[in-house]
Amino acid sequence: MSKKTILCIMFGGNSTEYEVSLKSSYSVLENADRTKYDIVRVGITRQGLMYIYNGEDAKIKDNTWKDDSANLKKALFSTSYGDHAVYAIDNNGTVERVAIDVVFPVMHGAYSEDGKLQGMLDMCGVPYIGPGCASSAVCMDKAFTKMLLNNYGVPVAATVYITKNDVENEFDSIKKDVAELGYPVFVKPANSGSSVGVSKAANEDELKTALEKAVKFDSKVLIEEAVVGKEVEVAVLGNEKAVALTCGEIISDADFYDYDDKYNNGTSTYKIPADIRKSTWLNLKRTAEGIFQYLDCKGLSRVDFFVCGEEEKIVFNEINTLPGFTSISLYPKMAMSSGFSYSEIIDELVKYAFEAKKGN
Ligand SMILES: Nc1ncnc2c1ncn2[C@@H]1O[C@H](COP(=O)(O)OP(=O)(O)O)[C@@H](O)[C@H]1O
Ligand SMILES: [Mg+2]
Repeated sequence: MSKKTILCIMFGGNSTEYEVSLKSSYSVLENADRTKYDIVRVGITRQGLMYIYNGEDAKIKDNTWKDDSANLKKALFSTSYGDHAVYAIDNNGTVERVAIDVVFPVMHGAYSEDGKLQGMLDMCGVPYIGPGCASSAVCMDKAFTKMLLNNYGVPVAATVYITKNDVENEFDSIKKDVAELGYPVFVKPANSGSSVGVSKAANEDELKTALEKAVKFDSKVLIEEAVVGKEVEVAVLGNEKAVALTCGEIISDADFYDYDDKYNNGTSTYKIPADIRKSTWLNLKRTAEGIFQYLDCKGLSRVDFFVCGEEEKIVFNEINTLPGFTSISLYPKMAMSSGFSYSEIIDELVKYAFEAKKGN
């Protein structure tokens, strides 16, 4: 029997999406084919402490893994290029080398989806799922992404880009700019996800509250015109010749698709494929594949759009390079509706991680 691939699954993380990652990772762990992979679990606490975890997967799901001290060892990635290992250190200081072949960072947001982890993994020389350092950083930052895509010619919502300093010292000038956009507006931190820190503001008072909230999460903030349309997400899979597999439509009960609607109440529903004309799907497909190449993505991305009005005009919203993988997340559901089983999606992603890896 050929040797199994050692798949390092990373979960948790020092970001606002820590809990989403636990749920995503649990689904990936449940579905990774154990006849193909030996699994190494590396968990990161909310505080950013890193451990190798050898306990039950259920404790990852319910967030008790970090109390399971018998199954935890401090973890350090070897940044000796090509060593391909994590070093596990127990309470007595005994060090054990744990070999890894490929990493799946099943984490979202800061320190995981934003290029920082990718830079570290590049130094290790180990293949990993998702795009490289620069692409991850640009795709995570909604301001950079939009500026670049404006340049590429993709329609995006009219946006006022501001900083925390502007919020504190230039509120009058912000108010003028926003009056030109017209209320309501969406206020969002440049680097966030899962709708954390995102608000809809209908007037100046709400704008102020929304800005105060957004700057808690990032010193860069976007104020966008509110786009009226269907929210349609596109699943892209591959490397240089990545393919947009299908699209899904979010039908949200809430005022907008916020954190609770995404993960807590479960009141939102979805349709795969989205209820749009064939010609609109072809336009979305071409645009999503173009964006994926233009932003140098690798492996996978979920590219989110609004589809507006009778004419079904498309407007780009955001790109997620490590999209949610929870049991209710749209990326795996879309890939499954395109004919992959969940475990085959993992196999595809591992294959693309090896293919994208340059060097030794
Ligand atoms: N410009 C906008 N117009 C209309 N709705 C928006 C706009 N921006 C965000 N939203 C709503 O807020 C949700 C979260 O915003 P999004 O930009 O996707 O951030 P996140 O990365 O947190 O998912 C979207 O799914 C959508 O429901
Ligand atoms: Mg979103």
